[in-house]
Amino acid sequence: MTEGAYAIDALLLEERRYPPPADFAGQSNAQPSIYERDFDEFWEAEARERITWFDPFTKLYEWELPYARWYLGGKLNVCFNCVDRHVEAGIGDKIAYHWEGEPEGERRTITFADLQREVVRFANALKELGVGKGTPVGIYMGMIPELPVSMLACARLGAPHTVVFGGFSADSLSDRLNDMECEVLITQDAGWRKGTEVPLKRNSDEALDRAPGVRTSVVWRRAGSDVGMKEGRDVWAHEVVEGQSDDPDSCPCEPMDSEDLLYLLYTSGTTAKPKGIVHTTGGYLVGVSTTHHYIFDVKPDSVYWCAADIGWVTGHSYIVYGPLANATTGVLYEGVPDYPDRDRWWAIVERYKVDILYTAPTAIRAHMKWGPEHAERHDLSSLRLLGSVGEPINPEAWVWYREHIGGGRCPIVDTWWQTETGMILITPLPGITTTKPGSATLPFPGVDAAVVNDRGEEVPPGGGGYLVLRRPWPAMLRGIYKDHDRFVETYWSRFPGMYLAGDGARVDEDGDFWLMGRVDDVMNVSGHRISTIEVESALVDHPQVAEAAVCGRKDETTGQAIVAFVSLKDGEEGSPEMMTELREHVATKIGKIARPANIVFTPELPKTRSGKIMRRLLKDVSENRALGDTTTLADPTVVEEIKDRAVTEASQEA
Ligand code: WT7
Repeated sequence: MTEGAYAIDALLLEERRYPPPADFAGQSNAQPSIYERDFDEFWEAEARERITWFDPFTKLYEWELPYARWYLGGKLNVCFNCVDRHVEAGIGDKIAYHWEGEPEGERRTITFADLQREVVRFANALKELGVGKGTPVGIYMGMIPELPVSMLACARLGAPHTVVFGGFSADSLSDRLNDMECEVLITQDAGWRKGTEVPLKRNSDEALDRAPGVRTSVVWRRAGSDVGMKEGRDVWAHEVVEGQSDDPDSCPCEPMDSEDLLYLLYTSGTTAKPKGIVHTTGGYLVGVSTTHHYIFDVKPDSVYWCAADIGWVTGHSYIVYGPLANATTGVLYEGVPDYPDRDRWWAIVERYKVDILYTAPTAIRAHMKWGPEHAERHDLSSLRLLGSVGEPINPEAWVWYREHIGGGRCPIVDTWWQTETGMILITPLPGITTTKPGSATLPFPGVDAAVVNDRGEEVPPGGGGYLVLRRPWPAMLRGIYKDHDRFVETYWSRFPGMYLAGDGARVDEDGDFWLMGRVDDVMNVSGHRISTIEVESALVDHPQVAEAAVCGRKDETTGQAIVAFVSLKDGEEGSPEMMTELREHVATKIGKIARPANIVFTPELPKTRSGKIMRRLLKDVSENRALGDTTTLADPTVVEEIKDRAVTEASQEA
């Protein structure tokens, strides 16, 4: 299909309207009056209704630009809210997680009472290892129940954590451990992915060589693989929990201030150094539990599955903290969607009678490519609601998801948010909102989102511009760890008084928001945020690389794919071997997710006369578009040469 035809088709799909299904309206957690509620009243009432406070808050919020504080004076504990109080309320037998390992047949059912026992025992063990209120803890694990157990044990003790996605490299891990000054690391021997072991312990050993501040490494046994244990530093989790009490009174939940640090989560920005996004306790928990309740229409008997990885913010907010605070039964799955077969997800939906499924457009497109027959082999009639997150969803994928997974009856919530926002901010509400394929529709009640032009003025309907937020929200980031200047510079300096999201957007005549992707040097590959500069730094770190420029090009499955333009030292020519070597080099520096899909070797990069690399042109080249203005180039022939090479390389890649 030509690009023009694709655009026309997409337009026709975009113009479709899906009113809320009749059996939702009137039955859903959110009623239309929710949009009329007073901002202060709403967030006060939700906080009181949803959260158990040890000491009540005395003030809703304070906004001293750019920092907001919420629920001032309030004391609470996140673990108490996610676990203990449910057991006390008599629902200890309710299932917290249905867990499935990737190897078939490995299953566990964990009730809230089980979760409490495991968390208490592990928290007692951590306490013995010197972890207490304020001790920074790193967590590097896969999707096993011990991951939420570890996070909750930290929260119970008041120890802030940083979870590092298990797909990140040893280098990425040590950078994060050092930035947060972690004293303890929690990891596991290995995890399962695509039928092979992910050597988490081995990677973390490498990371710890470069993170001398970590004195103890606690290792969960998962795969049973052979790992070396370093005397005086490494301990097995199953050994240190042995003999520990599981009585909640043996390890009371530490009363935390609303504004105490709950966790840091690192995310890529426009420089080579990831930012430690700061999330605190009270506002975060209110924000994620409230949005989870209304947006996913979670009922007491729901089986909710967010198929993300806990290593990303989606997992923090909508696998662990939001759902558990709401006493939701969830599904936790360790592996990939096509192991052992492409129907694995649908077997899981059928087995546990999942009624709410939350995933990313890149996964939907992968299933689309594999064909609907895998879903058709299973009974998906339990599904009631579908969610999407991570990148703009193309209308085709939206409609396919609705028809082939949702049986044409489930509303879709396309939820826009970020690591920084902590909670969903732009989204339909099931039962209320008329949806359109490709639009995240409306700001959540009380969220003041707008699209502004270069001068910070709101653009009229239909116009495009920068997405900004003009009022604080409870789960918003409280800064970048130890970097006030970068916090101000990144989010608050472009338009005074407004939070700059970094996304382009437009609002249509109905007031619906359409997200258009990043406007900065950040790529979105399979819903993962990757900085062009970070990949460039990894490439030039290789001894033979003189210069590198990286950009994202459109990709049918992953949204964007990474293309690198590299010139080698001493006029060396590139080779397929060199390409493999450089891709592996990026994988070791950052992680496999950051590996370029294609590397174009070129003697020179297109630069302006002042020496700036023209990334815009490289993007045009990699997407096979007519080149934009080249008159400011120092040497216009450079780009023609690159174009020729890119075409040759692309055909080799295919
Ligand atoms: C960036 C944030 C939020 C959890 C996963 C990603 C893009 C996210 C949507 C959506 C269009 C979206 C934005 C945003 N994004 N959701 N529904 N529609 N774009 O978290 O890694 O912090 O990335 O993901 O570009 O800025 P993240």
